[in-house]
Amino acid sequence: MLTSKELRQKYLEFFKSKGHAILPSASLIPDNDPTVLFTTAGMHPLVPYLMGQKHPEGARLANVQKCIRTQDIDEVGDNRHDTFFEMLGNWSLGDYFKKEAIEWSFEFLTSKEYLGLDIRKLAVSVFSGEAENNIPRDEEAAGIWKSLGMPEDRIAYLPRKNNWWGPAGQTGPCGPDTEMFFWSGEGEFPPAGSNPATDEDNWLEIWNDVFMQYNKNAEGKYEPLAQKNVDTGMGLERTLVALNGFADVFQVDTFWPLIQKIEEVAGREYIENMAVTKSMRIVADHIRTATMIMGDDRRVAPSNVDQGYIVRRLIRRAVRHGRQLGMNTNFCDQIALQVIEIFKDVYPEVEKNKEFILLELAKEETKFRNTIEQGMKEFEKLLNGFRIAFEKTGTHITEISGKQAFKLFESAGFPLEITLELARENGLTVNVAEFEAAYKAHQELSRAGAEQKFAGGLADHSEVSTKYHTATHLLHACLLKVLGPHATQRGSNITQERMRFDFANPQKMTPEQIKEVEDLVNAAIQKDYPVSWQEMTFEEAKEKNAIGLFEDKYQSRVKVYTVGDVNEIAKADPSAPTFSREVCGGPHVEHTGMIGKFKIVKEEAISAGMRRIKAVIE
Ligand code: SER
Repeated sequence: MLTSKELRQKYLEFFKSKGHAILPSASLIPDNDPTVLFTTAGMHPLVPYLMGQKHPEGARLANVQKCIRTQDIDEVGDNRHDTFFEMLGNWSLGDYFKKEAIEWSFEFLTSKEYLGLDIRKLAVSVFSGEAENNIPRDEEAAGIWKSLGMPEDRIAYLPRKNNWWGPAGQTGPCGPDTEMFFWSGEGEFPPAGSNPATDEDNWLEIWNDVFMQYNKNAEGKYEPLAQKNVDTGMGLERTLVALNGFADVFQVDTFWPLIQKIEEVAGREYIENMAVTKSMRIVADHIRTATMIMGDDRRVAPSNVDQGYIVRRLIRRAVRHGRQLGMNTNFCDQIALQVIEIFKDVYPEVEKNKEFILLELAKEETKFRNTIEQGMKEFEKLLNGFRIAFEKTGTHITEISGKQAFKLFESAGFPLEITLELARENGLTVNVAEFEAAYKAHQELSRAGAEQKFAGGLADHSEVSTKYHTATHLLHACLLKVLGPHATQRGSNITQERMRFDFANPQKMTPEQIKEVEDLVNAAIQKDYPVSWQEMTFEEAKEKNAIGLFEDKYQSRVKVYTVGDVNEIAKADPSAPTFSREVCGGPHVEHTGMIGKFKIVKEEAISAGMRRIKAVIE
């Protein structure tokens, strides 16, 4: 097995032998870049030098860089997403270009002295060109790969979406790239003709050599850079997953001790069930990232603005998932100590800032737990009120009103998720639509400027899209129920303001049908069904009658989202009553109650036999 320590060492040693100066990791907080909150790639701190400034260490550089990307934070919990990661990189500042970059990448990957990978398990991709921008197909890169023995059928030519990199912020250096992939499919070697273009899901990307030739300016134009650079990036965790054949990024040795610690503290097993696995992954990832931000040279404490707000959210979400694992007293410090243990030799600042990390973590966790406790008392009072009302009037109140939920939020700082959780435990529902309305009104008054700066997925807009996305699944399920099995999805589109959903149906829907569908969707929202997902084979998904198998080319393993009864889902019974089960990459809300009120605003024809619904959530 290849360890993280070996991979870092081998990489730096190799590039040192090729005349590169080895730089320490820069701070996680970018120096002069107001467009993002965190360093997102190894090249990010080097932007001024890629733009032409002289670097004091010379024109050949390499390092291991601490990075954070939060745009997929809601995906953490699956087998591959994380928010903090390490990136190995080497750079040429106007020194070598494509030939050396590719030859050295090849040597590092295949030489016995370094990774010693079998060339038969490798494939590459190069940029397919863009006539409109006058950028040719990268025959030069392809030619160099061929000269090294890479067979023609292992070279994929792919467009901008795949083989173009940058800029890291909204402006800056960028260019075409060539990416290297390792075989992860069945069998020892890939079949002839297989490459990342023909068989995307069985090839894992491990390394990216970017040929930086352009600068994207504030007008969005690509201007040639005076100096041609190379920027390469190899994701450490991802490469260890690929080369070690792990099923899950949490098996990497910079994660696994954290999972073990959580197992020990919670007294539960990682593999107990999907919900436990997911919560443990979230705790491990979020405390790892929060610890690395707080333990950075810049020392960021939890707060309500900028990076500090991210730290706060990470800790609170970890505590919430910790509670779900039954960890009812402060635990974050124990996980953080393990994070420090893992990284102290690589990033000594985390050890140096240990006291600060532990102090801030304990303060935040205690504060949040107090909030929860305080809220619990308020919640108890509420329940008591319900009981008294029952004794007096004989009527059961089964719904917590939006106003009551909002009061819990506003006066006790009680997050809606926890109110929903407690409501469920007590056989109650929550009027989420009303809560959302009150919340929105409140937010408009007190929106902090920093909220708008969430480059990366924490912004309000991504939450709105997520709600619409789950609403799409509900609508699809309801159309099939009301109109019949022919009414399958043909397309969809989501903006901040509305969703559009195209489906097959020979006639115009009647007003009654529209109302029935709308009511069914709203009933599903009111029932606050949990939304869960499992990974399974394509065959299993079909057996479980998952819908949405219509157009995409699917991987051999797919993610299936289920909306339905929580007890049945926990048992993972394929015949369990579910509201909707659909093959989908996500993300989705955790409970349908978070969606709000669903309203169909239009139903129209788009072509013969094809209809379109426009709907909003309020
Ligand atoms: N900047 C490129 C990446 O992040 C290569 O380092 O993949």
